[in-house]
Amino acid sequence: MRFTALSILILATCMTADLTAQTASIPSIPGNLHPPIDSTWWKHAVVYEIYPRSFQDSNGDGIGDLNGITQRLDYLQALGVDAIWIAPMFPSPQVDFGYDVSNYEAIDPKYGTLADFDRLVAEAQKRSIRVLLDMVLNHTSDKHPWFVESASSRTNPKRNWYVWKDGKPGPDGKPLPPNNWVSLFGGSAWEYMPQTKQFYYHKFYKQQPDLNWRNPAVEKAVFGSMQFWLDRGVAGFRLDAVPTLFEDPRMRDEPAEGGTNAQGDPKLKDIYTNNLPEVHDVIRRMRAMVTKYPGDRVLIGETYLPNTAELDKWYGGAKRDELQLPMDMIIGFSNKLDADTFRNRILEVETQVHGSQPLIVFDNHDNVRSWDRYGDGVHNEAIAKLIAAMLFTTRSTALMYYGEELGMATTTPTRVEDVKDPIGITGWPKEKGRDGERTPMQWDASNPQASFSSNTSTWLPLPPNYKTVNVETELADPNSLLNWHKQLISMRRKRDSIRDGGIVMLDITNSNVLSYVRTAPPGHHNIVIALNMTAQPQSIALDLTTAGIKEKLMRTLLTNEPSLQGATSTSITLPPFATWIGEVQLP
Ligand code: GLC
Repeated sequence: MRFTALSILILATCMTADLTAQTASIPSIPGNLHPPIDSTWWKHAVVYEIYPRSFQDSNGDGIGDLNGITQRLDYLQALGVDAIWIAPMFPSPQVDFGYDVSNYEAIDPKYGTLADFDRLVAEAQKRSIRVLLDMVLNHTSDKHPWFVESASSRTNPKRNWYVWKDGKPGPDGKPLPPNNWVSLFGGSAWEYMPQTKQFYYHKFYKQQPDLNWRNPAVEKAVFGSMQFWLDRGVAGFRLDAVPTLFEDPRMRDEPAEGGTNAQGDPKLKDIYTNNLPEVHDVIRRMRAMVTKYPGDRVLIGETYLPNTAELDKWYGGAKRDELQLPMDMIIGFSNKLDADTFRNRILEVETQVHGSQPLIVFDNHDNVRSWDRYGDGVHNEAIAKLIAAMLFTTRSTALMYYGEELGMATTTPTRVEDVKDPIGITGWPKEKGRDGERTPMQWDASNPQASFSSNTSTWLPLPPNYKTVNVETELADPNSLLNWHKQLISMRRKRDSIRDGGIVMLDITNSNVLSYVRTAPPGHHNIVIALNMTAQPQSIALDLTTAGIKEKLMRTLLTNEPSLQGATSTSITLPPFATWIGEVQLP
């Protein structure tokens, strides 16, 4: 199995989490049976991440674009998506495929124009789909006029917009970096600029200099750009790499953990460059700014954090005045299909974030797809169905990534000369980059571009399985993963207990099967979900009285196993990796 640099970061942080303590903290009472009904849109939403280069090409240049997204809105509406998050489509030299922004208030010509964007928002709105943008706050492109000015002289008014520092004297007179900080993408995090004889700091590529968030002018300018898009009708933002906005003002060396990472750099404990407390003041002010807009605009955070206590801080703890939806990466990137782990972590995020709304996610553009991370190579489809059931039937807001609904696999380049993601070039062969999870959307089997583009040369090649794994083929198959997603999302919208109910874990000592009930107000149906996380059949006999439910008669609502279609009780045998969702019959 391949992990990207970012996956390694996640794994490292998750592994330092104290799982024993988490297990011990499972509440003995089963949680809130009937939470108050709250119709705020993002609390129920299915958010769909679009990597614009790879979704739909409308002009035949081999790269996806905004008009392509507009063309596919009917598909997204039929899937049941409430909001799309578009990865950066701002002008950019595309070193990090848009995450190196050179102008926050325009559209990259490769993706279209502002008029195209406005049309996309309007067409999406007609289909009740909101548009969320990806704000890259930590850094700009080195081609952004702010940086060009900042780099031009030590006295330029924008000098202090970035993080500049003198080097240390080197043995041969050449300056050495100011400290040992490493870039997440390999090598020193400091780049020397001979013109002004100082280094600038970059957490990511050297073409992505870090903004200096200690300078209020930076906050003012970035908030201004956010307002530019809020005024154009965007429903909110996904905040890129948001825990890394601040660095230690004393610029102390980070302690070594021992060993090296995939890029060959020493592994460091990133205590001086990640998750510094100062960031929370910025987020509180950002929340206050966004809240002034009507329509429940939302802030979603790319928050890879080691544990739920840290996640809670991103909501603002008891004050709940920071992000509405920091991503819980702990559940979806545990990378192990294990009932105890999921149960403990879902319970934790339900009970230890001061009643804030969890957001769970299994896939994004930085990590090996969940199809491969959780799949065992034999039962991948059943496992993908089980993951989707978890994603859509807990209380969490659900975030999914294009192609997840089809079972698109990670298709990693096999030759370094084909790699597009720079970390895959510098890290080859240990780190092959993120191209594998960014391949074009597989729409149909009509041509080798799977109708993603009319150009035979697409920016990344279509994976060979496009002939069978594609929207058109799967729509025609009632048992496909795509139709499974549609059924689950529709159930999530229409069933009171899944939409608004509480959640109570069942059979909590069972390490093989994750089961829970979504509780409904009296007079409505409770719904039971049982997920066999093993390759062996598992017999269960769920006791619903722990959730205050006396009725025993069940009716199957959804299962991927024909043998469970007629189940009428919660005493059933689940085939390997089976999903069963049943409704408790009213007396
Ligand atoms: C985030 C993005 C990733 C990007 C990095 C630097 O982690 O998801 O794609 O490379 O930030 O902007």
